[in-house]
Amino acid sequence: MLTETHRREISRLWERKVAQDASSLSNAERHRNLHPDSAELLHALAVGLRVKRAVEIGGSSGISTIALAAAMQATGGTLISLEIEPRRQAESKETTARLGLDVHVDYRLGDAGAALPAIADVEMALIDCEKQDYVRFFDRLRMRAGGVVVADNVLSHHLTEYVAHVRAVPGAESITLAVGQGLEITRLP
Ligand SMILES: C[S@@+](CC[C@H](N)C(=O)[O-])C[C@H]1O[C@@H](n2cnc3c(N)ncnc32)[C@H](O)[C@@H]1O
Repeated sequence: MLTETHRREISRLWERKVAQDASSLSNAERHRNLHPDSAELLHALAVGLRVKRAVEIGGSSGISTIALAAAMQATGGTLISLEIEPRRQAESKETTARLGLDVHVDYRLGDAGAALPAIADVEMALIDCEKQDYVRFFDRLRMRAGGVVVADNVLSHHLTEYVAHVRAVPGAESITLAVGQGLEITRLP
């Protein structure tokens, strides 16, 4: 479960993101993170569905990593965390190590587009990277039947093309939730 210590770390990262958004830092220097409410929902979904193999595309400095790694601690599973930017991933590693969650994370540095084809049997995936890559990365996911894909920022960034794309998958069920910056939650057949 998410403990108060996990929640404090999530709040610390989120408050830094909000402060950076209000400053004059360039986009490259800013940390972009998942809203804490979305992290709570992601955690509850992964634990409730007893997910043992999860992937996040865009781990950044680690709010979603904390949420999903804590879920993997509860289910006995592993989170594969994909991130292209080394400093953000290094910070995430430091945080999960401090929380004792690092043993539940398989960190991979590099382009998710190159890594995804080799990652099969995924039960839950989070897509939280550059918005123009959402459709392409969704199509590269190798999900297990009944797997769930969560995409962040669908409301904040009006990701109508992505939403239409996932809803066109035959047999898929998909809903937009106004949680955090807007989550599209898609259950595959
Ligand atoms: C919005 S942030 C992710 C926030 C993170 N999920 C969290 O909860 O803190 C997006 C991240 O995606 C990473 N990213 C962008 N393109 C990527 C790619 N092709 N492969 C892997 N990571 C990528 C960026 O470097 C950035 O750190």
